[in-house]
Amino acid sequence: MRTKIVIANWKMKLEIPESVQLAKKLKLAFLKKLWQGQVILCPDFLSLPTCGQALLKSKIKLGAQNCFWQDKGSYTGEVSINNLRNLKVEYVILGHSERRRYFKESNLQVASKAKLVLTNNITPIVCIGESLSDYRNKKTLFTLKKQLKGSLQGIKLKTKEKLIIAYEPVWAIGSGKSLEAKQVAKILKFLKEETKKIPALSKMISSIFFIYGGSVNSQNVQNMATFKDIQGLLVGSDSLQVKSFTKICQDFLS
Ligand code: PGA
Repeated sequence: MRTKIVIANWKMKLEIPESVQLAKKLKLAFLKKLWQGQVILCPDFLSLPTCGQALLKSKIKLGAQNCFWQDKGSYTGEVSINNLRNLKVEYVILGHSERRRYFKESNLQVASKAKLVLTNNITPIVCIGESLSDYRNKKTLFTLKKQLKGSLQGIKLKTKEKLIIAYEPVWAIGSGKSLEAKQVAKILKFLKEETKKIPALSKMISSIFFIYGGSVNSQNVQNMATFKDIQGLLVGSDSLQVKSFTKICQDFLS
């Protein structure tokens, strides 16, 4: 069976001491668990060094929430993949809808970042998702297809490299309204079929994981766990408490 994944996206919601406390508590809570899956914590940039330290000797991996598409240069205020690598970051979230919305990140920029991330032996978590108006106007699949193709343009995967594609409907993020698990599974299957059509990726489909995010919580996680096409979860709000996040991991991974 393939490894399932649960990713915590802490966004800009915690101060450094809070992030470290949470990482330490989760490390402790997970020591006794025997799940097969992969758990990844994505604190804000400034909390990465101390969270990385806190997670030493644990199976929990470290992820970042963004990076720049050049590895070095005059890019004031940006974050280099070289430094993420120095901090032993193994995953990077790219093209989250909040970045697409507030920083106008384009599919091309997301693809350029993903390429750079891969060349640094780090796994990109590429986010795509339809807006509320797309959803209401039944344009979900059309929008996803366009974002998928755009955000993966020029990407090739070598043996041992991995790619995670996170489907996150914009209207479901932080709203408490998750898409029904059955619908999620259907859309993730669609995304897999569409990815298979991309010549550079078709042969590597078993190295690509299709996951869901958007108001996943300790109540709806059990439904998500019943569908094999849901290979992972990206969790925001409910990853900020030890109890809820442990329950999500427990229900989804065991
Ligand atoms: P949410 O956030 O779980 O709070 O909806 C998910 C995300 O933005 O990745």
